[in-house]
Amino acid sequence: MPAWSIERLGKHHERDAFDCGKQLLDAWLKQFAGQHEKKDLARVYVLVRPGQPRVYGYYAISNCQIAYESLPAQRAKGLPGRQIIPGALLGRLAVDRSVRGQGLGDALLFDALKRIAALSEEIGIQALVVHALDDDAAAYYRHKGFEPFANTPRHLFLPMTIVRKLAGG
Ligand SMILES: CC(C)(COP(=O)(O)OP(=O)(O)OC[C@H]1O[C@@H](n2cnc3c(N)ncnc32)[C@H](O)[C@@H]1OP(=O)(O)O)[C@@H](O)C(=O)NCCC(=O)NCCS
Repeated sequence: MPAWSIERLGKHHERDAFDCGKQLLDAWLKQFAGQHEKKDLARVYVLVRPGQPRVYGYYAISNCQIAYESLPAQRAKGLPGRQIIPGALLGRLAVDRSVRGQGLGDALLFDALKRIAALSEEIGIQALVVHALDDDAAAYYRHKGFEPFANTPRHLFLPMTIVRKLAGG
């Protein structure tokens, strides 16, 4: 049996002990994730040990819009300038401090990339967007290959062509 599984957030999941070291991300999981699910604002996926309710990591995904002007010139080339560009938003991604540095952040990100790649076969998605909480989070996303939007170093994106490549690997 695998050591970990990633599944959609449900009522049985225990979130109270979750601690990723960033209060905002802990509080969101505990207080708002369920409401976001219920109101179709986001889908939330949690990392658990198979068959156990305690949550050790999570990410949330939604749709978003990308402004043409926010793209770096080289990435904007060939895209329609007067149109809103469709994107997917990786709203949050966090791993509990007790299990850091074991590749679980990568496992959650890979799961999100696979989901977005599959969705992009059904609806148009030009890029995966993240809004990093702070410089440390932005450094993590850059390390993973995300590129900053023009003039907003904490807002980053991964073009769909790259999402597909990573998800397939
Ligand atoms: C960012 C986070 C999800 C990474 O989780 P993790 O399980 O410790 O990461 P992994 O063990 O999967 O490591 C993945 C890789 O990212 C690197 N990495 C981790 N944190 C990093 C950071 N802050 N800056 C740059 N690289 C980082 C690791 O060195 C590793 O590199 P490698 O692939 O070259 O070996 C975790 O540190 C976390 O929850 N941080 C607090 C919440 C947060 O800031 N989330 C970011 C989005 S809002």
